[in-house]
Amino acid sequence: MTKQTRPYNFSAGPGVLPEAVLKEAQTEMLDWNGTGMSVMEMSHRSKEFGEIAHNAESALRQLMQIPDNYKVLFLQGGASGQFAAIPLNLAPMAGGKQAACDYVVTGFWSQKAFEEAGKFSQAALAAEGDGTNIPDVKSWKLSPNSCYLHYTDNETIHGVEFDQVPAVDIPLVVDVSSSILSKPIDVSKFALVYAGAQKNFGPAGLTVVIVREDMLGKASALTPSIFDYSEQAKAESMVNTPPTYSWYIAGLTFKWLLSIGGIKAIEKTNQEKAALLYEAIDSASHFENRVEKHCRSKMNVPFVFKKEVLAKHPKLEERFLKEAKENGLLTLAGHRSVGGMRASIYNAMPVAGVAKLAQFIKDFDRTIN
Ligand SMILES: Cc1ncc(COP(=O)(O)O)c(C=O)c1O
Repeated sequence: MTKQTRPYNFSAGPGVLPEAVLKEAQTEMLDWNGTGMSVMEMSHRSKEFGEIAHNAESALRQLMQIPDNYKVLFLQGGASGQFAAIPLNLAPMAGGKQAACDYVVTGFWSQKAFEEAGKFSQAALAAEGDGTNIPDVKSWKLSPNSCYLHYTDNETIHGVEFDQVPAVDIPLVVDVSSSILSKPIDVSKFALVYAGAQKNFGPAGLTVVIVREDMLGKASALTPSIFDYSEQAKAESMVNTPPTYSWYIAGLTFKWLLSIGGIKAIEKTNQEKAALLYEAIDSASHFENRVEKHCRSKMNVPFVFKKEVLAKHPKLEERFLKEAKENGLLTLAGHRSVGGMRASIYNAMPVAGVAKLAQFIKDFDRTIN
């Protein structure tokens, strides 16, 4: 085991990356593979970058067991770019009329996706949770002639995660920005799977879209070329200059993941980390996590002081965050829209980091009266 020399970073994204990946990038920073160039300085059309791009895609295909009839695109624009690209490509306008699609809203990001889709399509709300739950799939209402159903596998802010793929008879589209590569995802059940890189596999600036080939070629006429999946698939994600350095780091992260045993192995570690943290919160007298147990996120764990505790000690969150930082536990403030605290425990967060946080919560709990 390598000795921890840096503090533990619980940022929701951009988030922690494997130290082994950062070190490899550091070694190769000035001279990638004897070329005398940094990856940042290479043409995206060069043979060298072609190799980096190809190896990253192969590793991702291997990790996620992506079937051959899916294209893997490495794009810019973030997951938010996809909020627009998805309806433009999969629910195209026809005869001046917008097409129907359905959204399940279980938190902040699925709400954003739903609102954005409303600009380009007849997006309808199939079901809506309250930020602590996921409505039973049997209660979801699908529109007639709906082109797809979109949901967010893991709500990064609310800490609400699906524990299975919903059984619906309609093309499924899923945002896995904060859960990709943390557990197995059966790609064959989806028309499209997408994620921003900056939480579980790389720096910001890269978005991976995995799209079934029969979904290509339908985009609305006004779709920007960089967001047109069939144009990007034909151009191997190089309609314009792709985010080359982020793509490279993603490739190193995929390789790292394969080297530690792939998705099954990391899933086991992630379950262990989440169990440690929820146990600490649940057993504390003054903290709580309000999400229903069956849909608690294994990647983003929000927690708050109980209402009566905060009423008595209004400055407690500030003290918690300050003392956590002094103890080498960084970036634990909750998202500005919900407050409280949140620990993001992505793949690259070691078990030791979560164990240290769990102990810190228990010790802090004992100091409150
Ligand atoms: C689940 C989810 N979807 C979408 C987004 C938006 O991502 P981006 O900032 O890459 O547009 C985020 C960002 O935190 C997210 O967590």
